[in-house]
Amino acid sequence: MAAKPRPGPTQREFSRDTANRAARVAEWQLRRRRSWLLESFVSTPPRILAFAGSARKDSLNRKLLAGGEVTLIDLNDYPLPLYHGDLEDAQGLPANAAKLVALITEHPALLVASPEYNSLITPLLKNTIDWCTRAEPNPFEGKVAAVVSASPGQFGGVRSAQVARQLLLHLGCHVVPAQCTLPRADEAFDDAGRLKDARAQKAAQRVAAELVRTTARLLP
Ligand SMILES: Cc1cc2nc3c(=O)[nH]c(=O)nc-3n(C[C@H](O)[C@H](O)[C@H](O)COP(=O)(O)O)c2cc1C
Repeated sequence: MAAKPRPGPTQREFSRDTANRAARVAEWQLRRRRSWLLESFVSTPPRILAFAGSARKDSLNRKLLAGGEVTLIDLNDYPLPLYHGDLEDAQGLPANAAKLVALITEHPALLVASPEYNSLITPLLKNTIDWCTRAEPNPFEGKVAAVVSASPGQFGGVRSAQVARQLLLHLGCHVVPAQCTLPRADEAFDDAGRLKDARAQKAAQRVAAELVRTTARLLP
């Protein structure tokens, strides 16, 4: 007996099939776009602005920042007066503060090395940040940030790092959970300025990697 001819799809089935196919194509296109984005993040790591809250020639904290793919600036190149409201009223934002604000604005991520003075951040770091927050809008809002610290002491400047993290959070940064504190930092670097200890190297790399990953995820 001849096979009974299959009836063609009803109008409703036809529209459902077409809708499913369209959804599958859309999903495939989305996946392609996502993987392209991922690849572009990997090949173009987000730009990181790195600075230490020390102007010292042999700053251990600046050494801790060297080596990564970052825009490393030296706060010696951006000297600022101690913040004073009357000075601001008379002269506005100093030119160096404006330059720093521009740098912060054009980088999505910040890596801050925070030395410890009497359990707190240094006056240099606080003063620099204070001046920058006088710009409109606040350049720290929405940045992804990480904090590291180095000290010749046994705690590696951890108290300063905590304060710096709090300050950056308060200013609207997304501060990554990873942090690296380097105790006995005066003995930690070789003559080429590299960390001697593999564990310390890994800890610093973990912070940088988390900063890059989080920035890539949060970027629009
Ligand atoms: C005024 C002053 C206070 C300090 N207080 C601390 C402290 O509380 N904890 C600590 O670990 N180191 C303290 N130190 C030592 C600094 O960690 C050390 O000088 C360090 O090298 C500073 O960072 P830098 O090398 O990046 O300049 C202090 C240093 C100074 C000058």
